Amino acid sequence: MSKAYPMSKSRTTQTRLILPPDTNHYGSIFGGKILAYIDEIAAIACMKLTNQEVVTASFDSVDFLSPAYAGDILELESIVTSTGRTSMEVYVRVMAYNVKTGEKKLTTESFVTMVAFGEEGKPIAVPAVYPETEEEEKLYKAGMERRQLRKGKSKKALVQD
Ligand SMILES: CC(C)(COP(=O)(O)OP(=O)(O)OC[C@H]1O[C@@H](n2cnc3c(N)ncnc32)[C@H](O)[C@@H]1OP(=O)(O)O)[C@@H](O)C(=O)NCCC(=O)NCCS
Repeated sequence: MSKAYPMSKSRTTQTRLILPPDTNHYGSIFGGKILAYIDEIAAIACMKLTNQEVVTASFDSVDFLSPAYAGDILELESIVTSTGRTSMEVYVRVMAYNVKTGEKKLTTESFVTMVAFGEEGKPIAVPAVYPETEEEEKLYKAGMERRQLRKGKSKKALVQD
C-alpha cells in the first residue's frame, strides 16, 4: 500500500462515564479498565486509517498520571503517529473531567502498536501517515524515533519452554 494519509484520518474520540463497578475500593478506576478502553480506541484509529482488521502487538508504554473517580467523565483520544510496513504506532490520551468542579486533568497516556490483518489472517501493508498540525508533527517525529528503538527490542518471549 503506497498511499499516504493525514494522521487526522485516524483521529478518534470517545466519552465514557466512570461507574462504581469500574472502580476499586479507593473509588478510583481500575487500571485494567482503562487499558481495555485504550486498546479499543487504538484499534478503532487503526481501522479508520487502513479499513482493515487489526490486532494489538504491544502496549509500548502506559503511564497512569493521576486517578479518575466514579462520577468522572473520561474523554479518550487516539491517533496513529507513525506506520511501518504492517504495523502502526498509536498515541492515546485519556482526560478525566470532574463534573462538580469542572476540573479537567490528564489521567493516562499510552503508546500502542497495532498490526493490520488481511483476509488471509496475515499481516498486511498499511498506508503511511503525515502530520498537518504542530502537535501532530511532534508526535510524528518522536514516533519515528520510538519505531527505531522498538526495532532493536527482541520480539522473543523472555522465558522459553
Ligand atoms: C503481532 C503479530 C501479528 C506479529 O506477527 P509476526 O509473525 O511477528 O509478524 P511480523 O514479524 O511480520 O511482524 C509484523 C509487524 O509487527 C511488528 N511487531 C511484531 N511483534 C511486535 C511486538 N511485540 N511489538 C511491536 N511490534 C511488533 C513487526 O515489527 C512488524 O512491523 P512492520 O511490518 O511495520 O515492520 C503476532 O505476534 C500476533 O498475532 N500476536 C497476537 C496478537 C493478539 O492476539 N493480540 C491481542 C488481541 S487483538
